[in-house]
Amino acid sequence: MPTNLSVQLAPKHPKGLRLANPVMTASGTFGYGTEASHLFDIQKLGAIVCKGTTLEPREGNPQPRIMETAGGMLNSIGLQNIGVDALIREKAPIWAKWRVPVIVNIAGKTVKEYAKVASKLEAVAGVSAIEVNISCPNVKEGGAEFGAHPRCAAQVTAAVKAATSLPVIVKLTPNTTDIAQVAKAVAEAGADAISLINTLKGMAIDIYKRRPLLGSVTGGLSGPAIKPVALYMVYEVAQAVEVPVIGCGGIATARDAIEFIVAGATAIQVGTASFNNPRAPLDVLEGIEKFMQQEGIEDITELISAAQQRTA
Ligand SMILES: Cc1cc2nc3c(=O)[nH]c(=O)nc-3n(C[C@H](O)[C@H](O)[C@H](O)COP(=O)(O)O)c2cc1C
Repeated sequence: MPTNLSVQLAPKHPKGLRLANPVMTASGTFGYGTEASHLFDIQKLGAIVCKGTTLEPREGNPQPRIMETAGGMLNSIGLQNIGVDALIREKAPIWAKWRVPVIVNIAGKTVKEYAKVASKLEAVAGVSAIEVNISCPNVKEGGAEFGAHPRCAAQVTAAVKAATSLPVIVKLTPNTTDIAQVAKAVAEAGADAISLINTLKGMAIDIYKRRPLLGSVTGGLSGPAIKPVALYMVYEVAQAVEVPVIGCGGIATARDAIEFIVAGATAIQVGTASFNNPRAPLDVLEGIEKFMQQEGIEDITELISAAQQRTA
């Protein structure tokens, strides 16, 4: 039985953002896509989201910046990256030859900086869309994450939308009181799609040195430990907004991915699982296809939000 896995992530955008299937990589866990291209056929994936990119190159946070936790990991990479100009020069020409769309994840310290990075990516061959990471400290407003407040989140979204003609996905932080309110504000400000969740703020302590284990004291928790939180937030946000939702957080298997799709996600991202198994995104895709065959599901859209209809 032929199965249709194709999804549209920006239905209201003039260019649209059609993926061959709903499996994407999560930013910061799959480099620029080039690193894994010899391990498996990455062209089979729905989309590659590259690591967070800023206006200037960044060295990142002091070491140590990664540690394992129960059911997950803590990271405090601090957006180490080559900067947007080098990305355009060195990475985009490679992506332009790929079949799989590449989405550039962007970050900034100010609203202006986000807009500047977005404008530099305008009309760059090889870049299909922008994902805006709003889990960054808002320097002008005392360091709270942009995504923690609906107003700040909307400001960044509107500025990026005004700076680009590419589809814009806004990636929400779970470190906020009411994520559905932030999602609504971002959708009203023009986001074409919403992805969630980024990492949950956490920390670890070295009891012998009697000090925090991570060089920058706090970090972001990811992996299986956060899956139930992410699933709940995707379910909430999918009910609050009309735009497509992309689910992320602890997805390691096809079953995990299908849970997010049934909860309301149009597409999903595989993150930390790729550190354990670099083929994880492809394994997830093959597992979704197998499940659809077994269950007699011809089109992936039949699965999207199925749980919402049952609980309405
Ligand atoms: C090492 C590492 C680096 C990350 N870097 C970024 C980043 O640059 N931009 C971003 O939006 N999210 C970043 N994330 C968050 C992931 O994309 C993802 O939202 C989060 O890890 C939850 O998914 P997971 O549990 O499947 O990893 C990073 C996560 C990890 C573990």
